[in-house]
Amino acid sequence: MTEHEHREDNDSNASAAHVWDEKYRSRARIWSGEPNPQLIAEAAPLPPGTALDLGCGEGADAIWLASRGWKVTALDVSAVALERAKAHAQERGQVGNITWVQQDLATWVPGELFDLVTAQFLHSTVMPWQQALQLAAAAVRTGGALLIVGHHPDGLPPWSEHHNHAERFYTAEQLADELGIEAPEWRLDVVATRHRSATGPDGEAAALTDAVLRATRLAAH
Ligand SMILES: C[S@@+](CC[C@H](N)C(=O)[O-])C[C@H]1O[C@@H](n2cnc3c(N)ncnc32)[C@H](O)[C@@H]1O
Repeated sequence: MTEHEHREDNDSNASAAHVWDEKYRSRARIWSGEPNPQLIAEAAPLPPGTALDLGCGEGADAIWLASRGWKVTALDVSAVALERAKAHAQERGQVGNITWVQQDLATWVPGELFDLVTAQFLHSTVMPWQQALQLAAAAVRTGGALLIVGHHPDGLPPWSEHHNHAERFYTAEQLADELGIEAPEWRLDVVATRHRSATGPDGEAAALTDAVLRATRLAAH
């Protein structure tokens, strides 16, 4: 989500699928098409295995992981986003190693465990982040990595309406605390606040702040 951030509205009565399909339909492309910078920074050193990308959107992160040898399951509630992701994967020659799953996290339980679970900017309009990201943590196998990246509340995209919804955002410290990412079950590898520049949907530049948490599961649930 390095460039084309989106406008959030507050549509808590609608289903997540409806809300997100409408968002994706509002533009021919919402995101930049490039993998997220914190994913590249944190996952590049990891040996490839199985990966789960939760809230994969238009698929750039899943495609990048597949290009590096990961066998990827990419899940999103929006069928519109997934159609774009599949087309993008085809263009990049990365069809074989990605399984696309259309699923609302509200009714999802991990059916298998993964070597890497990544959730990048999974800021749902209808589901508390604690609930969605607990699922991410639950899907990491022993010895595997959890990578969560979100908007830090002090560095939200100025072009979005995020500012009215502070409850949707978190620091890396809050993430670790709320999800119970701590010894002896976990080793915290990164708990960080990182600044970066980004370009909005109409070409506007901004300084954003990411909350970054990477942890290794040392013991089963
Ligand atoms: C802000 S976008 C981030 C997309 C992508 N990870 C990226 O960084 O470009 C959040 C994504 O989460 C998905 N999402 C939101 N709520 C969801 C839910 N309840 N179940 C599954 N996916 C959901 C949306 O459809 C959207 O694609």
